[in-house]
Amino acid sequence: MKRHAAIIGTGSFLPDTILTNDELETMVETSDEWIVSRTGIKERRLADKDHATSDLAVRAGERALACAGVEPGEIDLLIVGTSTPDHILPSAASIVQYKLGLSCGAFDVNAVCSGFIYALHTGVAAIESGRADTVLVIGADALTRHVDFTDRATCVLFGDGAGAVVLRAAEEPGVIDIVLGSDGSGKDQLIIPAGGSAAPCTEERVAAREQFVRMNGGEVFKFAVRMIPKATIEVLERGGYTVEDLRWLVPHQANKRILDTVEERLGIDDDHVYSAVEKTGNTSAGSIPLALDDLYTSGRLAPGDLIALVGFGAGLTWGAATIRWSMDVVTRKAETAHGPA
Ligand code: UT7
Repeated sequence: MKRHAAIIGTGSFLPDTILTNDELETMVETSDEWIVSRTGIKERRLADKDHATSDLAVRAGERALACAGVEPGEIDLLIVGTSTPDHILPSAASIVQYKLGLSCGAFDVNAVCSGFIYALHTGVAAIESGRADTVLVIGADALTRHVDFTDRATCVLFGDGAGAVVLRAAEEPGVIDIVLGSDGSGKDQLIIPAGGSAAPCTEERVAAREQFVRMNGGEVFKFAVRMIPKATIEVLERGGYTVEDLRWLVPHQANKRILDTVEERLGIDDDHVYSAVEKTGNTSAGSIPLALDDLYTSGRLAPGDLIALVGFGAGLTWGAATIRWSMDVVTRKAETAHGPA
């Protein structure tokens, strides 16, 4: 009998510090009106000064383990989707593995904002192949550490956060299918030019602010509204499903205008599309697992619900997954990034 992977726990973490649009108005020439009308974002979270991506990931991971009732020793594999590891080396995952007290292999997957879907793909494959029984998959980013707070075109968009799921071998498919895509010809559309092997940080490059995120917003917007519907339809059709079968579409939370365009193109109702971008901004690989944890812990997911996750981002990359939810409805909001215990 084919082995499947199911989600048996979720967790998430948003830092306490809030950066509002009003505060950004004092930093760059922008306005709450411009930001809200172009992006839907009202506020975003900033990681504490002494915290790195691994700290966000550890908190989300701890909550997912507690939710699943799984001990650290039971985890066979840890995968962290991130493009903002604490250091270029070692991986964030090694630090998370140590801090969580896991005794298993651990590695990062970098597909930027699609990172959680890519990490999920790897975790599911490990379970389906029989190489692991229980896998912790985390999406975590502290992208505000790489944002130029003098560049109004990018600094209003991003926030920090992390989400996690525990996957376990199951007889019935929880994660039904996943499709991934990449088009490296678009690498310059969203890039941190300096700091990698192509262009190590030098005084000149730092003076030119090349160590920060640069984005061609218009091109990324067009890519997103083309690829999100395409990847969603593709993963649904592979399972014989249509958009009408979906209880929730959970897109990467980048921009409300992108979500509105996608809704229109897919012909899906607003109340079936998850949106929290107003409160979090774009948390990159954190956004989809943050969304899943919020939906679950607020009682909006029931056993049997069909969900599609869809991510897109720098690379350019994209990915979509179908999931048949199997955890019972929770009636009391658990300790979560989006609310108190
Ligand atoms: O995970 C993937 C992450 N990336 C995305 O999701 C980004 C997708 N792209 C977008 O969401 C949109 O392209 C943006 C929200 C980034 C920008 O919206 P836009 O409607 O494409 O604006 P634009 O870049 O065409 O800029 C229009 C104007 C420009 O002024 P001029 O040249 O017309 O005088 C910009 O300088 O808006 C100006 N502008 C701003 N004004 C006030 C750009 N940023 C700001 C700002 N406040 N923060």
